[in-house]
Amino acid sequence: MKTFIEGLPKAELHLHIEGTFEPELMFEIARRNNISIPFNSVKEIEEAYQFDCLQDFLDIYYQGAGVLITERDFYDLTYSYLEKCADQNVKHTEIMFDPQTHTERGIAFSTVINGIHKACKDAKNNLGVSSILIMSFLRHLSEEEAFNTLKESLPFKDWITAVGLDSSEKGNPPSKFKNVFEASVKEGYIPLAHAGEEGDADYVWEALDILRIIRIDHGNNSLQDPVLVDEIVKREIALTVCPLSNKALQVVPDLKDHPLKKMMDSGMKVTVNSDDPAYFGGQVNQNFIEIQKALELTKKDLYQLAKNSFEYSLLNRDSKEKYLAELDAYYQQNIGK
Ligand code: ADE
Ligand code: ZN
Repeated sequence: MKTFIEGLPKAELHLHIEGTFEPELMFEIARRNNISIPFNSVKEIEEAYQFDCLQDFLDIYYQGAGVLITERDFYDLTYSYLEKCADQNVKHTEIMFDPQTHTERGIAFSTVINGIHKACKDAKNNLGVSSILIMSFLRHLSEEEAFNTLKESLPFKDWITAVGLDSSEKGNPPSKFKNVFEASVKEGYIPLAHAGEEGDADYVWEALDILRIIRIDHGNNSLQDPVLVDEIVKREIALTVCPLSNKALQVVPDLKDHPLKKMMDSGMKVTVNSDDPAYFGGQVNQNFIEIQKALELTKKDLYQLAKNSFEYSLLNRDSKEKYLAELDAYYQQNIGK
């Protein structure tokens, strides 16, 4: 199964670029920017990555992102993730970035986006990995601040495909961002949001009906409400599920309790993703490997998950067809092995 997963062509649809910041690179960038971090070794950093909940993780994640200063830093961070995509047969990735994590510290929006965009362009040419950018608003900040970010993004509109909503979910319902999502859609951005990771099913309802999102990041707690599940199935709204993240943030006690198979069986369109791989113990292939083992997924299940990753990506129909054909050929060649 491991070999089958490693060779499987796939897309990653839920990935925070700031969450790909591996300790080694963090040390290197901190050193060149003359910034001290409160750790003495990679081992110390890894030992600090024990989380009780989402907020616990976010505190350390924002601290880590604080060493990113120059365009080159954002380039190196992004390119290093895209190299890992190439190694894992991730053909296409939809990368979230949190501009406010950086603009709040005085880093220009243009520094962030120029570095990330250039790395994506180089990776397409050098590694054959395609990517799309999702600008995420931090939901613990105000809607007014999200509006400022939207405004700052407009000169770079051609490089950004969608808007997202992330950070501390509880107490920050989707409805708080109704107006800025409406304005974002008017600008041509596709609306996406984290919902139902720690928040209840009513947050997922709000994300669907108020923000009008076309894909749900996480969505685990949708299962609290059978009417909501039916609606998600009916509207064909895909879920970007992140098994190792859910385990690390104690959204599930154990991968064996993970609802991924239940979601699939209920007709929901599920994808597998890494969320913040540097913090949660594995890249996307490791997520596939561990969830396959925990839930005894079949090759057909894995094929379906990979198929969904292309089908519910933000790519145009032609690109989807190209990747789906590649996936089908792989599946036919490897199903019996
Ligand atoms: N930002 C980075 N990772 C996140 C997650 N899993 N949930 C909410 N916000 C995030
Ligand atoms: Zn996320």
